[in-house]
Amino acid sequence: MPTQKLLLLPGDGIGPEVMAEVKNLIDWINAQGIAKFETEQGLVGGSAYDAHKVAITDDTMKLAHASDAVLFGAVGGPKWDQVPYDARPEAGLLRLRKDLGLFANLRPAICYPALAASSSLKHEVVEGLDIMIVRELTGGVYFGEPKTITDLGNGQKRAVDTQVYDTYEIERIARVAFDLARKRRNKLTSMEKRNVMKTGVLWNEVVTQVHQRSYKDVQLEHMLADAGGMQLVRWPKQFDVIVTDNLFGDMLSDVAAMLTGSLGMLPSASLGDVDPRTNKSKSLYEPVHGSAPDIAGKGAANPIAMIASFAMALRYSLDLSKLADQVEAAIAAVLAKGLRTADIKSEGATVVTTQAMGKAIRDELTRIAS
Ligand code: IPM
Ligand code: MN
Repeated sequence: MPTQKLLLLPGDGIGPEVMAEVKNLIDWINAQGIAKFETEQGLVGGSAYDAHKVAITDDTMKLAHASDAVLFGAVGGPKWDQVPYDARPEAGLLRLRKDLGLFANLRPAICYPALAASSSLKHEVVEGLDIMIVRELTGGVYFGEPKTITDLGNGQKRAVDTQVYDTYEIERIARVAFDLARKRRNKLTSMEKRNVMKTGVLWNEVVTQVHQRSYKDVQLEHMLADAGGMQLVRWPKQFDVIVTDNLFGDMLSDVAAMLTGSLGMLPSASLGDVDPRTNKSKSLYEPVHGSAPDIAGKGAANPIAMIASFAMALRYSLDLSKLADQVEAAIAAVLAKGLRTADIKSEGATVVTTQAMGKAIRDELTRIAS
């Protein structure tokens, strides 16, 4: 059995609490002899700033490059509102994405049957929902240059962000999305704003070409991103896979998260190109939710998005798909039993702490795996 290296970056706010439940799960897997994981832990975000005055150190980046998968909690909080822009907590996450070349961000929004009532939308709109948002993650307005604020000298300032995409960036993310659609319900919706943005025009053109060239068997639909947001809350089950740029993907995936009952439920995987030598790609797994400083340290956070992100790591990076299925089944079973963290509580359910939820999932997994 090969030893697989995991780098844990809990980060700030509720990050350490939800990561602790993943660490417990890793220890459980090692103890069971199902796999052999070696873990290292590092600082990222505000906690890294407090210790080193940067959002992530070069040493931690080296560990990230050397690991089979990076597990990331959450970063940020009001404590670091005043730190220099380049050292703000989010810069740590953006550097990881950019330096590891993690251009494909997979954000599955699945509504567990037990949670259909927790969504702010009607039961029938979300019940059985299973969609996948594929967000481009290393381009667009997040990284485009120039990115500046200039003093115009007349009491005015000018802020510039640059939205930029090259053909190859759109091609490779489109291929990831088409491939995923093929393994699912064979439908892809591409979202952009070609009616106002040149990047939208090119996006539309390139996705159409990739479809024509290699994926004619997949049903492709184009939608303006604003209409896409509306359709996501009107009738989300019309979608299978959605592919979109970095900024639209950020927004649309928060919307999709809420369809599932809570932002505390949505996992994500960020993947790079497959290295032909190892047949593996660099990867980072993180919950879609943020650091929630208001509830940090209280045991109130929902660890499910973090645990489900680890399940994605088992599937996409660690060659343990069966275990991934079992972890997901354990999450569903615990929810079906009526256990809830505060964010997803409903009538008649039992509200439990972060730690109790983590333990309940491990106990359920023990039952399922034996
Ligand atoms: C996300 C987050 C990040 C983003 C922040 C923390 C930089 O909101 O992963 O969705 O905007 O990409
Ligand atoms: Mn976001």
